[in-house]
Amino acid sequence: MKNLIQKYNIPGPRYTSYPTVPFWDKEGIALEDWKKTVKKSFFESNDIEGISLYIHLPFCESLCTFCACHKKITKRHEVEQPYIETVLKEWDLYCDLFEERPKIREIHLGGGTPTFFSSENLRKLINGIFKRADKFDIFDFSFEGHPNHTSEEQLQTLYDLGSRRNSFGIQDYDPKVQKAIHRVQSFEQVKKVHELSKKIGYESISHDLIFGLPFQTEESIRNTIKNTIALKPDRIAYYSYAHVPWIKGVGQRGFEDSDLPKDSEKRHLYELGKQLFFDNGYVEIGMDHFALPSDSLHKAMEAKKLHRNFMGYTAGKTELMVGLGMSSISDSWYAFAQNEKDVDDYTEKVNAGIIPIFRGHLLTDKDLIIRKHILNLMCNLETEWKIGLDAQIKKEIIERLKPIIDDGLVEVSDERVKVKEEGRMFVRNICMTFDLRLIENKPDTRIFSMTI
Ligand SMILES: C[S@@+](CC[C@H](N)C(=O)[O-])C[C@H]1O[C@@H](n2cnc3c(N)ncnc32)[C@H](O)[C@@H]1O
Ligand code: SF4
Repeated sequence: MKNLIQKYNIPGPRYTSYPTVPFWDKEGIALEDWKKTVKKSFFESNDIEGISLYIHLPFCESLCTFCACHKKITKRHEVEQPYIETVLKEWDLYCDLFEERPKIREIHLGGGTPTFFSSENLRKLINGIFKRADKFDIFDFSFEGHPNHTSEEQLQTLYDLGSRRNSFGIQDYDPKVQKAIHRVQSFEQVKKVHELSKKIGYESISHDLIFGLPFQTEESIRNTIKNTIALKPDRIAYYSYAHVPWIKGVGQRGFEDSDLPKDSEKRHLYELGKQLFFDNGYVEIGMDHFALPSDSLHKAMEAKKLHRNFMGYTAGKTELMVGLGMSSISDSWYAFAQNEKDVDDYTEKVNAGIIPIFRGHLLTDKDLIIRKHILNLMCNLETEWKIGLDAQIKKEIIERLKPIIDDGLVEVSDERVKVKEEGRMFVRNICMTFDLRLIENKPDTRIFSMTI
């Protein structure tokens, strides 16, 4: 296994989209084309499955030095209100495109730290969204909370607004690791927000952990997982630390590269975590995620209804996902578009009445086919050849898969490609054999984190 890890641990995408962001069309997407695909997707899907909303709330009070998210560090809470007003104006720009009231099936508040915002502002935001929308029959509203900055009032407010699911950033409980990543938070604090969520009635609580952080050891991970399991979250995200200092610049500092666990040590931490989750009744979902069998994510996996998008794995699929807020990415199935990454640029465009995208990609017919295969592999660990690929492309994919087949990680038949249990941790490598954009544009600089 150690040799396989060395062999396959190469830079590669996480496939929250296909094509992946670095291979979007360099020319971008014309705003009119973006609007056209949004309208088409809305028309096709609003009545049948509803739409999803991702709302990016970027502010955090202090910087965690491992963080790869789009965030803005400030303690000035005056930023909240104007930001919410801008997000609602952006929502208006989308609603003006729709011919009927949108039916929202999923809302996710991501960040940054959504619980940076006061209860009052969170209420303004969600009530503002529903001034121009209705709930779909199935409605799933979730948010990310920082345990040090989540109050009972915020939890109650979001519950009253319809949220039944939340996730808390835990990362690691070890004091030395916490100091290095500038993220000091106690087990007691996490226990408090977790138990408050239960008491209020949240149905699914998730904890985010990361392996591969500086100074982590087998013992520290065992302890972090012991604490986590003591609270029995419904879901656990066990992320591989993405060390991307060339993208995040000054953000990822406070420790040296030599403080990070080496490849095989890191993989051992993953294997250890996975075993401890299994021993405690959790089931592995796709990549990075574990859930109790009672959780909706596990039920979706059983029913082969798991979906993957920029939010990670979700239990329901919608064709249209509108991303609001700075840096958010929207997905109309036929195209992707990303909002301006700087709050001022984002605000300026919205105030001028322009949907604030700065780049995007219109999928070709070939992209749409590859997209289906990669989604199938990432969500169901198998895909069928009948999703039409031309014969030459299929032949080349099989050639690229050959070493992975020989290593016993994947099975290829006339009907399908199936990832074997032993190949689960290499699913990103398997997807890379389908990734025509990656193959055609071999990057000459480092743009992705390591696959393992
Ligand atoms: C936007 S953050 C979470 C919300 C909240 N701001 C918090 O920190 O509690 C979402 C999650 O992404 C994960 N994450 C952030 N940077 C990461 C990195 N470099 N590698 C792996 N996971 C990362 C963390 O587990 C984090 O909890
Ligand atoms: S991990 Fe969360 S709180 Fe820390 S900087 Fe990133 S988004 Fe902000």
